[in-house]
Amino acid sequence: MARTSDIEKAAEVLRAGGLVALPTETVYGLGADAEDPAAVARIFQVKGRPPSHPLIVHIGGAEHLDDWVQDVPATARLLAEHFWPGPLTLVLRRGHRVPLEATGGLETVAVRVPDHPVALALLSSFGGGVTAPSANRFGSVSPTTADHVRTELGDAVDFVLDGGPCEVGVESTIVDATGKIPSILRPGGVTREDLEAVLGYPIAVPSTSRVRVPGQHPSHYAPRARVVLVEPEKVVAEAELAQELGHQVGVFLPPFLADAPVKAHAVLAVPASTAAYARELYGFLRELDERGCDLIVASLPAEEGLGLAIANRLRRAAGPRPTV
Ligand code: TXA
Ligand code: MG
Repeated sequence: MARTSDIEKAAEVLRAGGLVALPTETVYGLGADAEDPAAVARIFQVKGRPPSHPLIVHIGGAEHLDDWVQDVPATARLLAEHFWPGPLTLVLRRGHRVPLEATGGLETVAVRVPDHPVALALLSSFGGGVTAPSANRFGSVSPTTADHVRTELGDAVDFVLDGGPCEVGVESTIVDATGKIPSILRPGGVTREDLEAVLGYPIAVPSTSRVRVPGQHPSHYAPRARVVLVEPEKVVAEAELAQELGHQVGVFLPPFLADAPVKAHAVLAVPASTAAYARELYGFLRELDERGCDLIVASLPAEEGLGLAIANRLRRAAGPRPTV
């Protein structure tokens, strides 16, 4: 776990234009000084992410919001007050402190206050905003432990702050809050139901958005193994058939089948609670890759509460891959 001296060291690295991997409650981020275009450019280089894809600026508290954005609608303030610190990202009009390098050239910027003591201590010690995408290579599974980051990015990161395993496990919910009526651009750690309870009206989850959201590419959040989604009742039969055909099959066994014997290479029992499932999801995908699976058979949870974000990530993981 990170100590005070680690946090000071990390703040120094940021000030010197370096990259710091930092824990948040959702996933680990790959952070740089938001106001340093050269440091921001290095994030894209290390991730292998196209420079047109915008980043999230992490700030230390809702009271700093107006330093980074302009024209904040009342609904956005309401959401910030209610959910920050927490897994909610608000897309708002870009303020002058945010370089276009961080927004992929957009006149809007995504901002959030992470709910993690180590991230908050770093933001407080550093004093500025930290742009941070998830600390994984473009298109692959987000890291939920410091070890995941070290394995995936190694020496490309100047300093890794270890804050233990992430509590939420899936990324933040991204809300377009530029207009009067907000909409969800990416489902995540704050549920649609939670947002609607605060707003007092239903909120849309558009399937495609005009803005570029790399998390919305067909194949994203993907392990090496191919992911196949089937009805929950068909998971076992599908897995056993593929195993018989010579695949090394990894199985996400739905909770209602918890003790069922399955003839497959690796079987992971999906937790019954969606909070636990969200926390384990990316670790499960990584584990099945590590155990040598070439095919993963899973089913979608009910798309309510955190199930909406889990189903979104599983669909992306199963999406068509770019041919190389
Ligand atoms: O939980 C999280 O959100 C994590 C932690 C580290 O905070 N971060 C994260 O960042 O998931 P990243 O870069 O992997 O995903 C951020 C998403 C991208 O899909 C990006 O396109 C979208 O936010 N985004 C950023 N700025 C935007 C903008 N101005 N308009 C629309 N979408 C934006
Ligand atoms: Mg990401």
